[in-house]
Amino acid sequence: MRTIAGWVFGLGLLGVLTIGLQGRTLAQGAAEGRELFVTYGCWQCHGYEGQGSVAGPRIAPTLLPYAAFEVLVRRPANLMPAYAPSALPDDVLQEIFAFVQSIEEPPALEDIPALQ
Ligand code: HEC
Repeated sequence: MRTIAGWVFGLGLLGVLTIGLQGRTLAQGAAEGRELFVTYGCWQCHGYEGQGSVAGPRIAPTLLPYAAFEVLVRRPANLMPAYAPSALPDDVLQEIFAFVQSIEEPPALEDIPALQ
């Protein structure tokens, strides 16, 4: 019994540590990703919050997995310039993705007092 309890506790602790570390890495990635989103000019067409503009569609919040996001940036459908790995390395794109992913759904219109 004691051994099982020990294992359960140990695994639980491991889980908490893993989630904690991931959380920290994601949050850090998002902050750096925001700067890179600006440096690499994504904001010029997609807006500072990925909200979209006349030049590019809304890209945040996103449900895209990284693999799909990467394809859309490396081989865009139409008007967007293609970003090759030589111009936009994979690690930079991953941080930009972390930032885009960190952008949350805006509140519903009914929940914005100024609009009531
Ligand atoms: C010159 C304007 C422009 C810039 C700069 C730009 N984009 Fe785009 N982006 C677009 C347009 C326009 C589309 C719509 C597809 C097309 O026409 O190619 C698009 C589409 C996308 C999509 C796919 C959206 C979807 O759900 O279909 C993603 C993801 C994206 N852009 C990410 C980025 C990132 C990341 C950067 C910066 C590295 C960036 N874009 C820079 C114009 C731009």
